[in-house]
Parts: sequence; structure tokens; C-alpha cells
Amino acid sequence: MVIVDVKNSLSFMATGAAVVVLLLLLSSACQAQLSSTFYEKTCPNALRTIRSAIRTAIARERRMAASLIRLHFHDCFVQGCDASILLDDAPSITSEKNALQNKDSARGYEVIDKAKSDMEKICPGVVSCADILAIAARDVSEYVGGPSWTVKLGRRDSTTASISLAASQLPRFTASLESLIDLFGSKGLSVRDMVALSGSHTIGQAQCVTFRNRIYSNASDIDAGFVSTRRRRCPASVGNDDGNLAALDLVTPNSFDNNYFKNLMQKKGLLESDQVLFSGGSTDIVSEYSRNPSTFKSDFATAMIKMGDIEPLTGSAGIIRRICSTVN
Ligand code: HEM
Repeated sequence: MVIVDVKNSLSFMATGAAVVVLLLLLSSACQAQLSSTFYEKTCPNALRTIRSAIRTAIARERRMAASLIRLHFHDCFVQGCDASILLDDAPSITSEKNALQNKDSARGYEVIDKAKSDMEKICPGVVSCADILAIAARDVSEYVGGPSWTVKLGRRDSTTASISLAASQLPRFTASLESLIDLFGSKGLSVRDMVALSGSHTIGQAQCVTFRNRIYSNASDIDAGFVSTRRRRCPASVGNDDGNLAALDLVTPNSFDNNYFKNLMQKKGLLESDQVLFSGGSTDIVSEYSRNPSTFKSDFATAMIKMGDIEPLTGSAGIIRRICSTVN
């Protein structure tokens, strides 16, 4: 009799343990999902407050729209969308801000810091810096005439950064089409996503040092008139003019439209990595977007949502930083 009872209680305990394990698995699976209503109960005014900080910044300087979209991209491609790009150098951190692709180039950190300090006033310790980057990218797109989308939320912030991953995972302006396809593919993004996302070069600017080789290359995939215009403020010799800016889209530099793709078809892409999208072989997608602005915009929104989904920290992983540039 006693033996039977022991057996029963053992099997009861085993079933109980199995149920607990199952529940844990289910809950971690649920936590792994980002959700657009994540802050609905914990900070109902989060999105409105962030939007207002972002709008103030763009009203002050319109280019900031471009810089903030790029910041979210440069965050997501390094360790996932975890705000690692915002961390400053510290004893245990070598900041991604100093990687070649970011140094003296990525900008908008102070705008995110301001949005975060506004958030800390209304809901301390609730909204992550990684989510603020994702929300800002959507808000600025909408502001400059690009598409809007529902941002999925619930990302948490990293306690680490990686300058070496930043150097290897952020694309170079000299990259070939094959290497770009591989890189975006490794992040779960298709060629179509990559071409659509590159369409954010319809706004913003690039420094002479990034396109000098292209405009002095005598390459066959560059328009002669475009070359002479761009050479005016970007002389051949390396030096003081390295930082001179040129619009990535020479026709409508301040509005989010499909002119970038029209430019590529006319061999007027500013960066080598822009022009290879057309001359290197993604010709069909480029020409489709050049003819059809609404397809471009809806594909761009879809691709931004996919990009925002790259390896987020969720559940109990990571932290909510109180100041975006440092670990609590
Ligand atoms: C396909 C590979 C890409 C390469 C090689 C590349 C490279 C660059 C370079 C070199 C600049 C100019 C930086 C400077 O001169 O300081 C730039 C600017 C920019 N990039 Fe990209 N990019 C790529 C894809 C993307 C993607 C996927 C996005 C967004 C989703 C993006 C958004 C931007 C924006 C908005 C700017 C203008 C930033 C500003 O004016 O502050 N880029 N990019």
C-alpha cells in the first residue's frame, strides 16, 4: 500500500514538474514576441511623448529624420536591435560609436537621449532605448512623407556593445552586390527587403570621403553630368574637403519618395553600394520601385518591421537602461 502511494506521488510530482516546464517554455515563447501594445498598460503615453520629442528635433533640423532611420539600422545589424550603438566607452565597453562606419558619421544620439529623458520623467525604468530607436524611425519616416507602420515593441537594452561586430556587420559603401545580399541575408532580410531599405537613401547626406572614389573612377555606371556636379564640392585630393556633404538623392533630397530608384536607373547613384543595386543585377526591383512609388513605400514599411525584429532581447534578457549611453 505504502509502495503504491509513493509511486503515485512520484508520478504526480513528475507530471507537475512537466507542467511547470511546459508553462515556462510557453511563457518564454510568449515573451520572445514583440507586440504593438507592449506599453499600453505600463506607459500609455509613451508613443505620444516620444513622437513629440522626435518632431521637435526634426523641426529644428530636417536631416535628423535621415540620421535617426540610419541609427535604428546600425543598431539592429549589430547584436540585434538592443540599443548597443548608444553605449559610450566604459571600462567594460568599447563603444560601437567609434567603428569606422559610425565614427564622425552616425548622428542623432542626443535626440534619442532627450526622448529617453522625457520618458524617464513619465514612466521611469519602463521604456527601452532600443524601442525608442524603433519608434523614432517610424515617426520620422511619416514626418518626411514616407510610409508609417505599426511598431512592434518590448525590446530590452543590452549591457554590452561590440565594436568588432559593428566593423564586420555594418555594410561598407564599397561592398559588392553579392556581399550585400549575403550580409542582409544573414539578418533574415531578402534581396527585396535590402533594395527597399536602401531606398531610405532618398533622404539624407553622405560625406565626400564616401563617394570620392566613385566620382573619380571613370566607371561606366556613372553619369558624366552627375560626375561634374559632384566633383565641384568633392575634389580628388584627400584632405579638408573629406567631410563635404552631398545629398544621397540629388533630385528631392528632403522628401521620402522613389526618386532614389529613378536616379539609379540614370546612373546617378551617389555611393558604389547604391549603384550596384541596379548595375549589379537587382535591376527588376529597382525599376519596379522607380515606376511604382506605392509599392516601394509599402515594401519599405514591411522591411523596416522585419529589420526591427532582428534578435531582440525580450522577457528577462537585457535591461531597461535609465540613460541610453550607459549601463545602469
Ligand atoms: C546597403 C548597404 C548600405 C550602405 C553601404 C550604406 C552606407 C551609407 C553611407 C556611407 C552613408 C553616408 C554616411 C556619411 O557620409 O557620413 C549612408 C547614409 C545613410 N544611410 Fe545608408 N547604407 C546602406 C544601407 C542603408 C539602410 C538599409 C538604411 C536604412 C534602413 C540606410 C539609411 C541611411 C540614411 C537615412 C543615410 C543618411 C544619414 C544622414 O544624413 O545622417 N542605409 N549610408
